Amino acid sequence: MTISVKVMSCIERSSWIRKMFEEGALLRKIHGDDKVFDFTLGNPSMEPPAAFHEELRRLAENPLPGMHRYMNNAGYEETRAAVAEVLCAHSPLPVTAAQVVMTCGAGGALNVVLKTILNPGEEVIILTPYFVEYKFYVDNHCGVTREVWTDKETFQLDVAAIEEAIGPNTRAVIINSPNNPTGVIYPRESLVALGAMIARKEKELERTLYVISDEPYARLAFDGQEVPGIFGCVKNSVIVTSHSKDLGLPGERIGYLAANPAMNNVGQFIEGAIFCNRVLGFVNAPALMQRLVTRLQGASVDIGQYQKKRDFLYEHLSALGFEMVKPGGGFYLFPRSPLADDVAFVRLAQKHNILLVPGAGFGAPGYFRIAYCIDDDIIRRSLPSWEKVAGEAGLL
Ligand SMILES: Cc1ncc(COP(=O)(O)O)c(C=O)c1O
Repeated sequence: MTISVKVMSCIERSSWIRKMFEEGALLRKIHGDDKVFDFTLGNPSMEPPAAFHEELRRLAENPLPGMHRYMNNAGYEETRAAVAEVLCAHSPLPVTAAQVVMTCGAGGALNVVLKTILNPGEEVIILTPYFVEYKFYVDNHCGVTREVWTDKETFQLDVAAIEEAIGPNTRAVIINSPNNPTGVIYPRESLVALGAMIARKEKELERTLYVISDEPYARLAFDGQEVPGIFGCVKNSVIVTSHSKDLGLPGERIGYLAANPAMNNVGQFIEGAIFCNRVLGFVNAPALMQRLVTRLQGASVDIGQYQKKRDFLYEHLSALGFEMVKPGGGFYLFPRSPLADDVAFVRLAQKHNILLVPGAGFGAPGYFRIAYCIDDDIIRRSLPSWEKVAGEAGLL
């Protein structure tokens, strides 16, 4: 063996999404691109908004001296100020550039935050079903994950269950709304209840407990909803997010973390985060992308398009007998598997060239995930295959 036993075992445990994607590539080779319906990856099909290309052109035609050099590890002041201005609208205390660090996506921000706050062996609560990378990110920084189920009917926060899991070793809870894989949005009342419970436990345990709010889908909220700001609900909270989904830029690795100005020792936290951004080898978020998103803080892809895809699939799949929570945002559906074994169901769907990820990949066997950030045409053409799958799974 030439790589570590640990990495080898991580690869084996984490392979669901990649595995399905690779099998899909094989199916495409055999049947042709137009015959395979790949719902596995959260890779947005929508191109960035026109404003992105205009900004890109403007920057290319008007290069600034030194614009590709190293910078402060926190990122450009101007970019952080633009981010802070947007965050102010959802924060009781004003947010400034001093509370913002630009990062290599939300994934980079999560790693920076976890490295900043975790002592070896401290626990991070993650909520099932969860984004699978959380486990690896926590482990990267010598933490231990504790899984707590959300409500199994609604996938909403179960604050009492989170409270029960908090102990003397807990350091943080990661929440994600709109959620991957369920698409649910946590309403303000739940976040307020979470904040009140956390504050009570902090007093009882005499330690700071962070809520890390992972929000890359925050602007992808449907039916005129707004995702409630975490800063007004939880004192020791930090936002980690990116423009991977809202501007359709996952390959560009641009995101940020922002600390609640009300947080205990917020200056020290940010100092730690800037240091960790550096020593994790990110050094700083990509320079050109920082310049680009500075003027795009109010922009996003056409969210109406995602809402239309949600409505179309939710209606058609419900009519075929699939049961699922109607998502409030993001671009995922997480229906109950009609077969008790979700992996067997995913295999059945694969026989009809529909590629899905089993719930087991999110710590939630008995469900499956559909990523519907793909072309309308593929979604529409997949319907006859869905009907066959529903029939064979005993739904019709
Ligand atoms: C819940 C969640 N958090 C974080 C990320 C990472 O996003 P980024 O591309 O910004 O690193 C993703 C990406 O799919 C996600 O779904």
